[in-house]
Amino acid sequence: MPEPVKVLTKRYEVEDAHTLDGYVRTGGYAALRSALGSSPEQLRQLVKDSGLRGRGGAGFPTGVKWGFVPQDTGKPIYLVINADEGEPGTFKDRELMERDPHQLLEGIVIASYALNCTRAFIFLRGEYLWPGIRIEQALAEAYREGYIGRDVLGSGVDVDITLHYAAGAYICGEETALLEALEGRRGQPRLRPPFPAVAGLYASPTVVNNVESIANVPHIVEHGAEWYRSMGTEKSPGPKLFCVSGEVVRPGNYEWPLGTPARQIVEESCGGMLEGRALKFWAPGGSSTPLLTAEHYDVPMDFDSIAAEGSLLGTGAMMMFSERTSVVDAVLNWTKFYEHESCGKCTPCREGVFWMAQILERILEGHGRIEDLQTLDDACDNIFGRSFCALGDGATSPIKSSLKYFRNEYEQLIERGRLPQEYAAHAGVVTDNSGMHRPSQLVRR
Ligand SMILES: Cc1cc2nc3c(=O)[nH]c(=O)nc-3n(C[C@H](O)[C@H](O)[C@H](O)COP(=O)(O)O)c2cc1C
Repeated sequence: MPEPVKVLTKRYEVEDAHTLDGYVRTGGYAALRSALGSSPEQLRQLVKDSGLRGRGGAGFPTGVKWGFVPQDTGKPIYLVINADEGEPGTFKDRELMERDPHQLLEGIVIASYALNCTRAFIFLRGEYLWPGIRIEQALAEAYREGYIGRDVLGSGVDVDITLHYAAGAYICGEETALLEALEGRRGQPRLRPPFPAVAGLYASPTVVNNVESIANVPHIVEHGAEWYRSMGTEKSPGPKLFCVSGEVVRPGNYEWPLGTPARQIVEESCGGMLEGRALKFWAPGGSSTPLLTAEHYDVPMDFDSIAAEGSLLGTGAMMMFSERTSVVDAVLNWTKFYEHESCGKCTPCREGVFWMAQILERILEGHGRIEDLQTLDDACDNIFGRSFCALGDGATSPIKSSLKYFRNEYEQLIERGRLPQEYAAHAGVVTDNSGMHRPSQLVRR
């Protein structure tokens, strides 16, 4: 059975870990010193050998992505850290930045050196004020002591890091929309190709990586690829932060090797489901990942095992719901989010998600028709793979998967014209199009 690990979270118990003193005292920046003794090619190979896969959602191998960057164009190379963290249920990057900001900065300097990049950006979710303050303080300290800036630790290597506060839009987490926003334009996705590795920020070669992905880098440099591969599975190596929320005893961020069964994470770290509640459905990696059921509770939490069950590991944000929760209302809640966050650039997402939200709302208000279920299914098929970026695909996930596993619940709701009486108003809220909140009625007493 896998054991919990403490790699990315190893300083979470250290009170002053967010300060340079606390970080250096606990071994921080040793990896940077050692990295500066290797060549950029050796470091890129090391990260490739470690098998690290991106933690921002898609699981793309980080070393392979770094290898796509052409080194001979004469243009500057940029590294952009995606700290937008907009995926519902996801709160791992926030804690990483608040509790151990230097870990991220050390990873950025090493990654920049490996990529021959002298200017990196942190694209921070606008609402993340406290993580932003911690990063600003850490940047000031690291600049002052020569870990960042001109001639890093006397090595002749230059790396500058700019913190950019984003305006707070989910679409700006999509890497090309992020680059548009960073350049000062409206955050809407770009047509690909060209991919950012070739023509990204200011049309220069650019790597966009998630906070957690880059936080892994100092540990890989310090302990080697083989050590890294000793955790997790062959195709999904390393530690992972799982953000568990919903109807569990102790929601929170927990670090386990990839491939740990979902049940083990929830039972051992979170104390299981709330008393008297049995698992009914859950999202394994944020609301954009297809829902799973109690039958999938023992699935190993790694990229391939979750894909084999028809879902996605996504960000590792596990949202757990019991039989007290109406799946239809939960799905409406998420669909309202996608409707609100659709950037409007492409028709399938802009129109389709709007109409799906209308239909779901109608069903919940007691005016549903049985044909609505086919319409929802068709709408999903016309959005999935046809929208300009993956936001549209993600919006179909909760609907498609809930229709697959809980069609009877939709049918009963349409037949009765209301939620079963056992469901009662709970504290949850749903954001509607105007930004107003209406109380959601999804939990049974
Ligand atoms: C709508 C949408 C929102 C996204 N939001 C985020 C985000 O907040 N943070 C993130 O790291 N990746 C996000 N992604 C994924 C990024 O596009 C990109 O794959 C990721 O930053 C790459 O980093 P990685 O390879 O280290 O995972 C989002 C993707 C989509 C389609």
